[in-house]
Amino acid sequence: MHPNFIFGFFYFQLICTTLAGSPKLPSYLKICHRSDPNIEKCLKNSVEELKPLLAKGIKELNIPSCEPLLIPEVNIDQGSGPVALKSAYKDIKVYGPSKFVIKQIKVDFEKDKMRLKIWLPHLEVICRYVMDGKILMMPITGSGLSKANYSNIDATITIRAEKINRDNDKYYNVTDFYVQFEIGEANINFDNLFNGDKELGEAMNLFLNDNWKQVAGEIKPVLEDSIASIFKKFSNRIFHKYPINVLLPK
Ligand SMILES: *[C@@H]1O[C@H](CO)[C@@H](O)[C@H](O)[C@H]1NC(C)=O
Ligand SMILES: *[C@@H]1O[C@H](CO)[C@@H](O)[C@H](O)[C@H]1NC(C)=O
Repeated sequence: MHPNFIFGFFYFQLICTTLAGSPKLPSYLKICHRSDPNIEKCLKNSVEELKPLLAKGIKELNIPSCEPLLIPEVNIDQGSGPVALKSAYKDIKVYGPSKFVIKQIKVDFEKDKMRLKIWLPHLEVICRYVMDGKILMMPITGSGLSKANYSNIDATITIRAEKINRDNDKYYNVTDFYVQFEIGEANINFDNLFNGDKELGEAMNLFLNDNWKQVAGEIKPVLEDSIASIFKKFSNRIFHKYPINVLLPK
C-alpha cells in the first residue's frame, strides 16, 4: 500500500544522465553509445556502478540521496470495491532502494521505447498517514505513523517517448510512463488506528497483514499511476534539457 516504487525513476534518470555527454562529464558516469551492439549491457553496468553514489546523492546532477528516498505526499481516493478508502500518506521515507538489482534493460530506438526490470531485496517505508473508509468490508479509520517492510520486489518500468524539435535539436518528450510492481512479502503496521483504540488497532493490523495481497492488489493501480506520473514529470525535466544526441550519442 506504500508508494515505494518512486526509486524506479532514479534508475531511469541515471541512465539518462549517464549518457549526457557534457564537457565536464564526471568520471563516474560511463557513456553508452546508441550504436553499441551491447548497449543494454552497457546501460546495465553503468547504472549498477552508480549504486554507492546513488545512496549518497549526486549533487551536481541534482539527484538527492535515496537512502532514504523522500516522497512528500501520496493520496489515494478509492471510491468503491473491496477497498473503498480515502487515504493520504505524507513525509514518506523509503529505506533500501539503492540495493536494487537490474535484471533487464531493453531499449527500442525505432519506437522510442524503453523497459527496465529491477529487483529489490528489501524496503522499509515509514510515513504519516490519514485514512478513512472500508477495507474488505471492515471499517477502518485513523491517523498517525505507519511503518512497513516489503521484500522480494519485482518492478517493471515502461517508458514511451516522442521526438520533438527545438532550436535545431531533437529532444525526447516522454508521453507514457508505466510502473508495475509485484511484492513478494509485506509487513504493515499502522499506529493509532480508531483514535488510538489499542484492541481494535491490533486486530485491524493483524487483519491487514493476513490480507495484504488482496488489499495491495486493490490499491496498486492507483499507486502505480500516481508514481508513474511523478516519474514522467521528472524524466521530462532531463529529456527537455538535453538533446537526444547528447543523451544518447551514436
Ligand atoms: C521492519 O523491519 C525492521 C528491521 O529491519 C524492524 O525493526 C521493524 O519492526 C519492521 N517493521 C514492521 C512493520 O514489520
Ligand atoms: C509532451 O507530451 C505531452 C503529452 O503526453 C504534451 O501534452 C506536451 O505538450 C508535450 N510537450 C512538448 C514540449 O511537446
